[in-house]
Amino acid sequence: MADTTAAAEPLLRLENLDVYYGAIHALRGVSVTVAPGEIVTLIGANGAGKSTLLRAASGLVRARSGRVVFAGQDVTRLGASGIVGRGLVHCPEGRRIFANMTVRENLELGAYLRRDRDEIARDMEHALTLSRACASGSGRAREPFPAANSRCSPWDGPC
Ligand SMILES: Nc1ncnc2c1ncn2[C@@H]1O[C@H](COP(=O)(O)OP(=O)(O)OP(=O)(O)O)[C@@H](O)[C@H]1O
Ligand SMILES: [Mg+2]
Repeated sequence: MADTTAAAEPLLRLENLDVYYGAIHALRGVSVTVAPGEIVTLIGANGAGKSTLLRAASGLVRARSGRVVFAGQDVTRLGASGIVGRGLVHCPEGRRIFANMTVRENLELGAYLRRDRDEIARDMEHALTLSRACASGSGRAREPFPAANSRCSPWDGPC
């Protein structure tokens, strides 16, 4: 019988990361692996270091020690722009979008490094379909959602 428990090579490997903000030692030797297709959730108290771990993975903060390995490549020292170019993307919580740009422009910016025009158009339509579904949902989800060509004010809705 085939061994179905054999672990696939992780897609993302965070190894023994230490991150400081000045004198604050925010991460102490944290390691996490994510297999292809796996969803990993970080749960912890406020200030535990969840966002810092994600920032270290995407290069928004630099780990003082440890390694970030993505798709078999060490990306620890690439910096955020190099890492996003490899396909490791950080979607920040909250409404951290470009408020003076339209919804469509914000989405297009998300595809800045992509060249697959047809796929981009398909993904754009998918995102706009989700936003329309969100706008017509029930309860908390039914917040006003700006149309694709309207400006994306973070105070107007779930943009
Ligand atoms: N820009 C910063 N400058 C200094 N210290 C910071 C900074 N950002 C986070 N910290 C500190 O690093 C530690 C980890 O914070 P982090 O934001 O990663 O926690 P978190 O688990 O994401 O918290 P929350 O649940 O509130 O989002 C905390 O002690 C926090 O005060
Ligand atoms: Mg956080």
